Amino acid sequence: MSVDQLEFRRVMGHFATGVTVVTSHDGAGKLGGLTANSVASVSLEPPLVLVCVDKKSDSYPLFGASQSFAINILANEQETLSRRFAKSGGDKFTGVAYRIGTTGCPILGDTIAFLDCNVRYTFEAGDHTIYVGEAVEIEVRSESDPLLYFRGGYRNLSA
Ligand SMILES: Cc1cc2nc3c(=O)[nH]c(=O)nc-3n(C[C@H](O)[C@H](O)[C@H](O)COP(=O)(O)O)c2cc1C
Repeated sequence: MSVDQLEFRRVMGHFATGVTVVTSHDGAGKLGGLTANSVASVSLEPPLVLVCVDKKSDSYPLFGASQSFAINILANEQETLSRRFAKSGGDKFTGVAYRIGTTGCPILGDTIAFLDCNVRYTFEAGDHTIYVGEAVEIEVRSESDPLLYFRGGYRNLSA
């Protein structure tokens, strides 16, 4: 039995997640990033995390070029930022507070936590590539509530 794509999306939409903006760069000054919820912790020793990136996204070439990415975990108040990074095109960083982290990736302001990573493993998986990165700089920055995603919509802990 083949699985319908829309139904696959709908079913996976019932898996509630946090929301991140995963940033990267091309090694020559070009910055990019995308909203992503396919983030998971992989290993403690060494500290590995993964993100699955659509090969069709504009940000995709940056991951290969710099072999690095930063996972910025969004706070409940950052839905607008999430929407901005969930659209292709334009300068996503205009008016956004950030600094450049250890790997050269942008670390966004006002997030609840971040992990700056060097790519250690890459796996081709259908129309996405799974990037497994080793965290080289990490920080919890605020005890704010997280931004959540469930059934195709943004949520918070109380609603
Ligand atoms: C809540 C949410 C989670 C998403 N998770 C992912 C993801 O894990 N991987 C991915 O490739 N795209 C994901 N996307 C879609 C990208 O954010 C979207 O395709 C974006 O336009 C890519 O930007 P770019 O083309 O500038 O790289 C997600 C979108 C939303 C709203």
